[in-house]
Amino acid sequence: MQKILIAPSILSADFSKLGQEIKDAEKAGADWIHVDVMDGHFVPNLTVGPVVVKAVRPVTKLPLDVHLMIENPEKYVESFAKAGADIITFHIEAEDDPKEVIKLIRYFKKKVGVSIRPKTDLKPIEPILSMVDMVLVMTVEPGFAGQEFIFDCLPKIENLRKIFKKDIQVDGGINASTAVEVRSSGANVIVAGTAVFGTKNYEEAIKNLRGGTDGRY
Ligand code: DX5
Ligand code: ZN
Repeated sequence: MQKILIAPSILSADFSKLGQEIKDAEKAGADWIHVDVMDGHFVPNLTVGPVVVKAVRPVTKLPLDVHLMIENPEKYVESFAKAGADIITFHIEAEDDPKEVIKLIRYFKKKVGVSIRPKTDLKPIEPILSMVDMVLVMTVEPGFAGQEFIFDCLPKIENLRKIFKKDIQVDGGINASTAVEVRSSGANVIVAGTAVFGTKNYEEAIKNLRGGTDGRY
């Protein structure tokens, strides 16, 4: 039994008051703060870089969970680590030498996540599963908040759970109802942008994503 952790994605927050939004999410029961980094190459959108991670670091005690949707992630590990990231997740599709990136993230004493897009199967990450703390299974094509959950990803989560006992994170299109599906498939870390920051009551939103009364399976 793993506790369900909720990681609101700041991509859907009001950036004109980002610090307050993060404080509000923490007060509402968030476990991690998810930061979506996009480079306009690996994905067709641009978002934030290390300067924003550095700015929000003092605002919260929660782990900053940095999701790199960028090419050549190894080039930026150091700056995100020094800016205050606690967990650094890179995409397997963006990296020819995943073992080197993992080593680099470990060198900075950060937790390591590896992510797969909806169309990527488990094969390419199998050789490195023992080296990472978390696998992030994307449940939408990375790039934008507010997309529809891709149900075809559920069997992949179930298969991963059979062979991977550490954190399985899911990201994209997760709301109170799709959260039920991902939780029963074996995911234990839920990222949500719209379903938290797009609502009026963050506390209720987080509770609904966690499910049940004690937040356990
Ligand atoms: C998508 C990002 C997600 C996104 C989730 O590329 O990685 O973290 O912000 O947003 P929702 O929860 O609205 O699908
Ligand atoms: Zn993300």
